[in-house]
Amino acid sequence: MRSYIIAGNWKMNKTVAESVALAKEIVEKTKGISKTEVVIAPTYLAAAKVADVIKGSNVKLAVQDIHWKDQGAFTGKVSVDMVKEIGAEYVIIGHSEQRQYFHETDETVNLKVKKVLGAGLKPIICIGETLDERKAGKLESVLTAQVEGAYKDISNGDALKTVIAYEPVWAIGTGVVATDDQAQEAQKSVRSLVAKLYGEATAEAIRIQYGGSMNAGNAAGLLAQNDIDGGLIGGASLKADTFFSIIEAAEKR
Ligand code: 13P
Repeated sequence: MRSYIIAGNWKMNKTVAESVALAKEIVEKTKGISKTEVVIAPTYLAAAKVADVIKGSNVKLAVQDIHWKDQGAFTGKVSVDMVKEIGAEYVIIGHSEQRQYFHETDETVNLKVKKVLGAGLKPIICIGETLDERKAGKLESVLTAQVEGAYKDISNGDALKTVIAYEPVWAIGTGVVATDDQAQEAQKSVRSLVAKLYGEATAEAIRIQYGGSMNAGNAAGLLAQNDIDGGLIGGASLKADTFFSIIEAAEKR
């Protein structure tokens, strides 16, 4: 049985003080959570302080990206050792906003995934199609390229440590959520792509989150789908109440 993983991607929201306050609220609310893995991804600037807040709690730390190089002249970037030192367990890789605005490609996703796994951390690998791609009937080919690209030269053992987040770009931050069926259909095909690479057992073990306008109202329906093992949540993760409602929807299943 796959366990649910509910992760809040705070993106470029919340100052350090606001991040600490929100993390404290989430720690408090999730004290009774036992089955669901809860992860929060603040900005780099707030990550170390948030790590202190969540120490010993049911909440785990993620960061929103890393560079694939160990160190050096890469202005504005953060290495995997830096985020490991402060206690991050997960790293979000290949978010559509990185792909869209910051030149992320399937090749750089693969380099980052390797770097994260090499450091003993776990990548949350984001994939998903744009509306134009979906309308043009390219859903399957886009997801295939993204999955094959991300997992190039990754061993089966390492693949098992990864999480995939299926985030249709047209659903992110738009309030237009994929229907339960749309999300399930896409995520089922993602799982069969993983099965082609690593076999059925690995594909059944890897968790696939849904992301894109997930909220307290639609979470239960999405999480009830066979191939939806959690959520990667933006807007609705910025308030403890709504984020916790989604965690509860997973915990109750
Ligand atoms: P929203 O939940 O704000 O649509 O964002 C989803 C997302 O991009 C999470 O990574």
